[in-house]
Amino acid sequence: MPDRTMPDSTVRGGVSAQTGWELHNLDFVEHAALVADRSVDLVVADPPYRLGKDYGNGSDRRSEDEFLEWTRSWILCALPKLKPTGSLYLFATWRHAPEIFSFVKRHMTMINEIIWDRRVPSMGGSTRRFSSVHDTIGLFALTSGYYFDIDAVRIPYDAVTRKARSRRRFEGSRWLEQGYNPKDVWSVSRLHRQHREREDHPTQKPLEIIERMVRASCPEDGLVLDPFAGSGTTLDACIRNRRRCVAFELNGEYCRIIRARAGRATSAAG
Ligand SMILES: C[S@@+](CC[C@H](N)C(=O)[O-])C[C@H]1O[C@@H](n2cnc3c(N)ncnc32)[C@H](O)[C@@H]1O
Repeated sequence: MPDRTMPDSTVRGGVSAQTGWELHNLDFVEHAALVADRSVDLVVADPPYRLGKDYGNGSDRRSEDEFLEWTRSWILCALPKLKPTGSLYLFATWRHAPEIFSFVKRHMTMINEIIWDRRVPSMGGSTRRFSSVHDTIGLFALTSGYYFDIDAVRIPYDAVTRKARSRRRFEGSRWLEQGYNPKDVWSVSRLHRQHREREDHPTQKPLEIIERMVRASCPEDGLVLDPFAGSGTTLDACIRNRRRCVAFELNGEYCRIIRARAGRATSAAG
C-alpha cells in the first residue's frame, strides 16, 4: 500500500502549515492535482534519466519513445503549477537533453544550460568515445519577471584573491565583500559511498547543488515542487533554507528515508 500523506485540515495550498512540507508517496503524473495551479515558485525536477537504474519501480527502464512521451506528460503536469514568476530546473543527460529542452522551450524561456561536472576521477572510462562526467541541467522561466536572487548564491573570494585586492583602492569594494557570481559550470563532487550526506539511493544529488537552486530561484517562505524526490535532497535543502516544499516519490522505502532526513534537517535548521 502506498504510504500516502493525505492532505488534512492543517494543510494549506498542499503543504502542512506546521512543518512547511508535504511528501506524497504517489505517482506525480497521476496525482499532480494535489498541488494547486499557479502556487509554486520553483520546480526542481530530477526525473529518471533512462539509464536503467533500479528505483524499485521500472521508471528508469522505458524504451526511448516511451521515455520521451512520459517526459512530455510530466512536464505538462508540472508547468501549470508555476506562478508567473516561477522557474524550473530540469536534470537530464546529454543523450536526451536536446529533445527534452526543445519541448520545454515551447512553453518557457531557457535561461541557462548548467553543466554539473561530477568531478569523476580519471580512472579507466570509455575507450570508444570521450568519458561522460557531467549532467546537463536546464534552467527555464515562465516570464521575463522570473524570480532570481544572485546575491543569495554568491561565492566568497578565496584568501589569495582577497589578499591581492587588499590595496587601499579596493577597500570596501562591494564586489569583493559580496563574492562572485556562480558560472554555468558547477564542479561539485558526486556523492561516493562513504560521503557523509549519502543515503541509500542510487542517484542522490549533492545538497550544495540543490541549495544553490533553491536559494537563487525561490524567495524565503516560497514553495518548491519536487515531482521525483528520490532521497529527499530538495526537501532537505528547503527545510535548511526556510522554503516550503511539496514532494512526490513512488518508492515507499525512499519515502521513509526522506522523512528521516527531513527530521534531521529540521533539527539542524533549529
Ligand atoms: C533521479 S531520482 C531523484 C533523486 C533525488 N533528486 C535525490 O537527490 O535523491 C528519481 C526518482 O523519481 C522516482 N520516480 C520515478 N517515477 C516517478 C513518478 N511518476 N512519480 C514520483 N516519483 C517517481 C524514482 O523512484 C526515483 O527515486
